[in-house]
Amino acid sequence: MTEKKVLLTIFGATGDLAYRKLYPSLFRLFRKGSLQNNFAIIGTARREWSDEHFRAVVQKSISDLDPTSAEAQSFASHFYYQSHDVQDPEHYITLKKLSDTLDAKYDLAGNRLFYLAMSPSFFGVIVKELKAQGMTDTKGFHRVVIEKPFGSDLASATTLNQAITATFDESEIYRIDHYLGKEMIQNISAIRFGNNLFESLWNNRYIANVQINLAESLGVEDRGGYYDKSGALKDMVQNHILQILSLLLMEPPAAFCDEEIRTEKIKALNAVRIYTPEEVNRYFVRGQYAPGRINGSDYVGYREEANVAPDSTTETFVAGRFTVDNFRWSGVPIYIRTGKRLTEKGTRINIVFKQVPINLFKTDVHKDCPERELPENVLTIYIQPTEGFSLTLNGKEIGADFKTTPVKLDYRHSAETVENSPEAYERLILDVLNGDSTNFTHWDEVAQSWRIVDAIRHTWDDETPDFPNYPAGTMGPKAAFELVEKDGFNWIWEPEEWYRNRG
Ligand code: BG6
Repeated sequence: MTEKKVLLTIFGATGDLAYRKLYPSLFRLFRKGSLQNNFAIIGTARREWSDEHFRAVVQKSISDLDPTSAEAQSFASHFYYQSHDVQDPEHYITLKKLSDTLDAKYDLAGNRLFYLAMSPSFFGVIVKELKAQGMTDTKGFHRVVIEKPFGSDLASATTLNQAITATFDESEIYRIDHYLGKEMIQNISAIRFGNNLFESLWNNRYIANVQINLAESLGVEDRGGYYDKSGALKDMVQNHILQILSLLLMEPPAAFCDEEIRTEKIKALNAVRIYTPEEVNRYFVRGQYAPGRINGSDYVGYREEANVAPDSTTETFVAGRFTVDNFRWSGVPIYIRTGKRLTEKGTRINIVFKQVPINLFKTDVHKDCPERELPENVLTIYIQPTEGFSLTLNGKEIGADFKTTPVKLDYRHSAETVENSPEAYERLILDVLNGDSTNFTHWDEVAQSWRIVDAIRHTWDDETPDFPNYPAGTMGPKAAFELVEKDGFNWIWEPEEWYRNRG
């Protein structure tokens, strides 16, 4: 693996994200040789830490990966800490000096990567000061990685984007959506464009509906303060769900490269209808969890969580039906469902094909057959916790009678829990080092996603919801089931238990 030369500066180096995701991912890249000798990492945050303390924290963060002590020490020796008030210009002068020193020490070719892993309210000032102090003028590449949320609506996202593009070119900006680093999200394109079987049927003539589920059994954990201002619509739909939707619905790109893929993703998002308030009320359902039980444990309701207002009207659940106004998808409901404290963790996509035009097996010739419809063929893509895909077909039941039965062709490459896997970050960081922006969101995608979501949010903000409306440990409010049933469909959801217990 080719070694990358880079100076990585992490803003928010004492935070949870850096500890749980970034340091383990960087270590994996170190182990695999993408980072070897010519790299240095500056961690900055408000806290007064020494380099030694920082290195000890970094070593602890990678302990699950079982490094030898020589490996861990050698990796951590590339880390430097600078206590930093991001609003104080003086600190950028010190940061620049340290950067130049490390560049000379490690021969970093002027390559600079800035990782903004802290409150978005500081992104603007950080990038302004980086430019003011000439930290983006070195001879190598300059790239910036930005964590979500990218704004809280179109207006704030636009302001943020203007601030960032005053320093960085769009091609230097890497807006992270960690779902795009997940194995099976990347596999969507392989399944679609590597199999003539599917791509030729991938349209409104053969597909009855699409279901995108991002279910979580976790609650808001220690993020009540952030979540109560955000809610499921902004936390999950604006980014992860609309990104998945665009990958599922886009036209085949002319080539499998970032620009061509992005063009098609943007076209798909542009075809998603921006709903009127009447359509929002007809097609979208919101929910908030009440106390309940999951797997034998009791959980409090959302309003009882730490840092959540006791009369909060923030939604912890969203189900909806998107309408896509283009030739390929017109008339196909695109259902989405996401929520906290649901029955189980499960990120799954169902492509539900139309039923056969007539059911031959309930004709006069087979009078004894039960009068029932043949189940639809379903392609399910399992993103997590198991990874893989299955295809449900109809076959004949073994025996003298002619009865059909659903048959499932199931391929899973992992039955392990891969929740929030560090591999996703590892892949994405490597992409940034390689200058490949395929798995990052372009501004046009972000802006269009906000337009879609803002229309829903504004309608919801006009009315006070009747919350809480679903007990923890269920799959959301009744209205979410009715949403699909009134179109003559059902949510397809087979508990993971089925797979794990199949022997
Ligand atoms: C994050 C959300 O983007 O994704 C969290 O802010 C959510 O609320 C998380 O829990 C889910 O990620 P994963 O990888 O565990 O499905």
